[in-house]
Amino acid sequence: MTVVVETIAALRAQVRTWRAEGLKVALVPTMGALHDGHVSLMRAALERADRCVVSIFVNPRQFAPTEDLDKYPRQLALDLDRLEKAGVHLAFTPGVDEVYPQGFATSISVGGPSAGLETDFRPAFFDGVATVVGKLFIQSEPDLAVFGEKDYQQLCVVKKLCRDLDLPVEVLGSPTIRDAEGLAMSSRNAYLSAEELEIARQLNKLLRKAASQLQSGADEQATMAAARMAILDAGFDVVDYVEARESVTLAPWQKDRNGRVLVAARLGKTRLIDNVEIAAS
Ligand code: PAJ
Repeated sequence: MTVVVETIAALRAQVRTWRAEGLKVALVPTMGALHDGHVSLMRAALERADRCVVSIFVNPRQFAPTEDLDKYPRQLALDLDRLEKAGVHLAFTPGVDEVYPQGFATSISVGGPSAGLETDFRPAFFDGVATVVGKLFIQSEPDLAVFGEKDYQQLCVVKKLCRDLDLPVEVLGSPTIRDAEGLAMSSRNAYLSAEELEIARQLNKLLRKAASQLQSGADEQATMAAARMAILDAGFDVVDYVEARESVTLAPWQKDRNGRVLVAARLGKTRLIDNVEIAAS
């Protein structure tokens, strides 16, 4: 049975009891509206740990005033049902005041992999993510935390947060779950119309094409320019970025090294992100 707690005190008490029993505890942070991508992280957590905690908290600090905080899908009853079916032991569902009490005035700012890409378009985003993830790690004291490669820059930022602040949490990246056409599952896909969905499904195909061209030695600038054009031709309205980066540091990609092609593109009111691997030749 999934036990649901809303307070940090109750979360800590339960996790400390487990750890005192010698059990390994994993945390999967989420903002709810759970789909198969989220569930895959819970499975990865349960394969490696004895107990799995899932947090569900729509973090206001990672939304800009212009973004979809109010509109972000909230469906706690359905989510708790999914957690139950996935065999999750504990759901942490705090209210905003529990996480950010009146007068909260601290922020965690991670440099390195947070530079560029998302930050160019959502400047406060990773400070908001790092602050809430740092708090969740301190609140729940997990041995392991699982994040999706879907949000690849976020995964790199969280790994760097742990390294730089000596947080004793092993951060595991887990592969992106896609629909049969390759579209990365996302809570925001719910915003897409039927027509937009067809366009969105082109994104991963175009990204894989670009990555395989880079892998075969194609010129980086020309490949990225062609990818940008192809994404627009497919029907996207705006390409925020499509770039090749080194896999761990997210520094500019060096030929013949492992890398990632990362993209953010807008379709109507929806902004989609995705990334694929460039394997070293
Ligand atoms: P959220 O968007 O709910 O995602 C929670 C976790 O699920 C993240 O680690 C994300 O990368 C992963 N995820 C989302 N879609 C996925 C997919 N298709 N395949 C595999 N994993 C996927 O990311 C956040 O919430 C927040 O920023 C959070 C880390 C919870 C901090 O507020």
